[in-house]
Amino acid sequence: MKLFIDTGSIKDIAAFAALGILDGVTTNPTLMAKERGDPRQILKEICRIVQGPVSAEVVATDADGMVAEGRELAAIDQHIVVKVPFGKEGIKACRALRADEIRVNVTLVFSATQALLAAKAGASYVSPFIGRLDDIATDGMHLVEEILDIYGNYEFPTEVLVASVRHPIHVVQAARLGADVCTCPPAVLEAIFKHPLTDIGLERFLKDWEKARSAAGTRQ
Ligand code: E4P
Repeated sequence: MKLFIDTGSIKDIAAFAALGILDGVTTNPTLMAKERGDPRQILKEICRIVQGPVSAEVVATDADGMVAEGRELAAIDQHIVVKVPFGKEGIKACRALRADEIRVNVTLVFSATQALLAAKAGASYVSPFIGRLDDIATDGMHLVEEILDIYGNYEFPTEVLVASVRHPIHVVQAARLGADVCTCPPAVLEAIFKHPLTDIGLERFLKDWEKARSAAGTRQ
């Protein structure tokens, strides 16, 4: 499973990319609005750092506007994947952008039928929003399972990108289901690195090592 980071923060992207664990980045207008500076320059820098797919979302609401904006975004860097919201306009824009060989991520997907239409429109990625479904007492991961089944039945090449991830258990579930990609906010990636037993275990190893070394020193 590919691991993406869900943020527009160059600092966070650089920190996790330096660990060699990042395959790509997803952004959205909410995330980009948190960052200072020219969004095009930020996206360019993100692409330079990650050297993998970077989803950049359009804000136009009509298909023609989405296509025009998508072309501009795609011109920023070869790694840009244009993100369009699901809907009639988004699906139309997806088809048009794909005809230009621009990769598209269909976002804000909350049902398997929406995912089916995204695949039929040639989407490169589909983004089911798991956490937001869980928030309204609906099993988000069940949606991922349904989409994977459907795409498997018809061999759609669209990659299933698990989005709106809230905690490491979502990452485990996505990987067990065989999702293609899981995009995690920096806080979730941080949480994966933290385990009290790892910390306690390391502390004990180092203490034991030091104790043995000083005992050996005393004996000499
Ligand atoms: C996906 O690409 C979106 O940027 C993101 O995962 C949305 O997550 P949220 O529900 O935490 O806003």
